[in-house]
Parts: sequence; C-alpha cells; structure tokens
Amino acid sequence: MTILVTGGAGFIGSNFVLDWLAQHDEPVVNLDKLTYAGNLNNLAGIEGDPRHHFVRGDIGDGELVGRLLRAHSVRAVLNLAAESHVDRSIAGPAAFIETNVAGTFRLLEAVRLYWGQLGQDRRQAFRFLHVSTDEVYGSLDAGAAASDEEHRYAPNSPYSASKAASDHLVRAWHHTYGLPVLTTNCSNNYGPFHFPEKLIPLVIFNALAGKPLPVYGDGRQVRDWLYVLDHCSALRRVLEAGRPGETYNIGSSNQVANIDVVHAVCAVLDELRPRPDGLSYAAQVSFVKDRPGHDRRYAVDAGKLERELGWRPAEMFETGLRKTVVWYLAHGDWVRGVTSGAYRDWVAQHYASERGAP
Ligand code: NAD
Ligand code: TYD
Repeated sequence: MTILVTGGAGFIGSNFVLDWLAQHDEPVVNLDKLTYAGNLNNLAGIEGDPRHHFVRGDIGDGELVGRLLRAHSVRAVLNLAAESHVDRSIAGPAAFIETNVAGTFRLLEAVRLYWGQLGQDRRQAFRFLHVSTDEVYGSLDAGAAASDEEHRYAPNSPYSASKAASDHLVRAWHHTYGLPVLTTNCSNNYGPFHFPEKLIPLVIFNALAGKPLPVYGDGRQVRDWLYVLDHCSALRRVLEAGRPGETYNIGSSNQVANIDVVHAVCAVLDELRPRPDGLSYAAQVSFVKDRPGHDRRYAVDAGKLERELGWRPAEMFETGLRKTVVWYLAHGDWVRGVTSGAYRDWVAQHYASERGAP
C-alpha cells in the first residue's frame, strides 16, 4: 500500500514526508508543483530512498493524479498542496483561487473516479485527508472561547476564504458521493524548513542578517502556535483513526501575541548567537504598516482530537521555538538557498514600498 501526499516539498508537507518515512515503511508518492514555496532541498535527507517517489506536477492535473493513484495502488491521499501566505493572497489572490479552490476540486474529482473503481474493501478503507487551517473561523475577540469544530466559518482574507471554499468542497464530496474524507483545521505552525516569508523564520533570518524585524501594526495580534512535528503526528493519528466525514481541529493552546513571539525569538538568539555589540536583537524591532484586514486573534480548541483519538502535542511553545532557532542556526546553507532571487524580490516589493521597513 502507498499514500499520496500533495505539497510534500513545502514546509509542512516535507516535514510530514520525512517523519512518515522515519516511522513507517509504507511508501509515499509526493506530488508537488514546486512553486516558489516548494523546495527539494527539504527532502535531501531521503534522497535515493526507494520508498519516496517524487513527481513534479499540479493537483489540478486530473489525468496525472489518476495515473499516479492507479500505478501505485494508493490507499490514502493527504492534500497539503496550497498557496499558503496571507500577504501574497492580498497582493495577488488569483493563484489562491486556482490552486486552493479549483485545484482541490479537480483533485477531488480524480480521486472520486479512482475510488469508485476500487473493490468494496478497498473503497471502505480509502481515505482523503484534507489539510486546512483555523483561519477559516475568522478573527476572535480577546475574551472569546477558542474555536471548536462547530464554530461558524467566517474567513476574512483571500487565503482563508480559498481554504474555506476547499473545505466546503471536501465536505460536499463526502455527503454527495460518499468519498471517505477527513478534514483537519490546524493553527499556525513553526519549525524546520519554514519559508522565511512567514513571521518566525523571517525574524530569525532578519535578526542574523542585521535587518529590521518588521512587526505589523501594534504587534498585539494573537496566533496559536503549534510545532510542525506535532501537526504531523496529529495528521497520522487522524488518518489512522479519524471517522470519515468528520473534521478535527489541531492545536496546542499556545496563544501568543506577535510582539511577544518576536521577543521570544530574540531572547533565544541573544543566548545562542549574541550580537557582537552586546545589544539584544530586540533592538532591531521595527513597527510597520499593518496588514489590510489583519485578523486580531486565532485560537483553536483541539479537545475533540484529544477526547476521540487521544492525540496530544509533545512540544510547548518555549521548547519548540528553541528547537526551531537551533535548527536555523545549524542550517545556514538551507537558508541561503531559499533567500536568493525570487525571495529577495518579494521582500523588496512587500516591505520596502508598502510598509516603509527593510
Ligand atoms: P507551503 O506554502 O510551505 O507549501 C505548499 C506546497 O504546495 C509547496 O511545496 C508548493 O510547491 C506546493 N503547491 C502549491 N500549489 C500546488 C499545486 N497546484 N499542485 C501541487 N503542488 C502545489 O505551505 P505549508 O505551510 O506547508 O502548508 C501546507 C498546508 O497546510 C496548506 O494547505 C496550508 O493551508 C495548511 N496549513 C498551514 C499552516 C501553517 O502555519 N503553515 C497552518 C494550518 C494549515
Ligand atoms: P504569518 O506567519 O504570515 O501567518 P498568518 O498570517 O497565516 O497567521 O503571520 C503571523 C502573524 O505575524 C500575523 O499576525 C502577521 C504577523 N506578521 C508580522 O507582524 N510581520 C511580518 O513580517 C509577517 C510576515 C507577519
């Protein structure tokens, strides 16, 4: 048997594939379009491993997906391929609609065709696990309870709206066609292989490069941070024991304001790689123009996953953040590899012209 992972050269997908092969012998077909966010260097640790079959391609290419499903007798699909950066979705939403909405639709159709031709036992055992975000629930007021799976959908950014649309398609393919789907809605991840356009790796990278650490608005927006390998263990558990048609929130109740995240990163760097002048990296913090429509707070209630499937995260924010900083300090080559060319263009365009920082 084999699983098909889409987006397995991205941040979470590559962590998932590496972790899966460290724990299982079951092969993985890894389908990734290799957009700016996809990076084969993330998978260098399994180069030449016969259990890993990488294919460059689009989830929207139904003919290719169908061929892969049949050729590898796939028993489960995990859909992690997406456009994932909120700021890019504001600057150019079209790619988000194309991949996250139309791409998921075409993937569902290719999977439905394949699944419909399986024998009874394999049809029943088949799973389509759709990886989504807590951002579909929209912004929470300061005192409001964390979002559980019954929370209304209220996406506010082009990114979260496109993910919400994909969640609805997945749900409909279960109710209408009986496809055995599982959906997970996870909070903000951090950890190794995180592309430095997102807050935590950007702060590590800019701090070490002596650049300003751009904090949007007042920096009091709250995110609920989960170490990426905890996300991976939750996905494995949901795949193994989740009930088809159900959705599961994933998170670890680590709600932290952005400015506190930035200071926490600076504190670990101050200890592990002090600035030559003895000042804290926090001196580089620079408040910049806010993100349009910036959601104030996300917080996710993952109690259902713990109650029903016994999953718990292994890391607290402090332990996971330290591991993350240590990883970036030890992987300067990886960072240099992803912070050239197109990355520099994005940073220059996004921060310099609009926000007046770096
Ligand atoms: P990422 O941007 O790092 O990686 C996305 C990957 O998908 C890249 O390798 C890219 O090349 C690939 N891809 C993009 N379009 C594709 C297409 N049309 N066909 C095939 N491959 C394509 O994203 P990530 O942070 O790893 O997120 C993975 C998934 O998890 C996404 O669905 C995202 O919405 C979800 N998620 C992310 C977070 C987070 O904090 N990063 C939190 C919750 C949920
Ligand atoms: P990000 O990592 O882009 O994740 P998301 O928008 O999906 O939550 O951003 C996390 C938070 O950090 C978010 O509130 C926006 C903020 N942020 C900054 O303050 N400065 C930055 O340069 C970036 C990229 C994000």
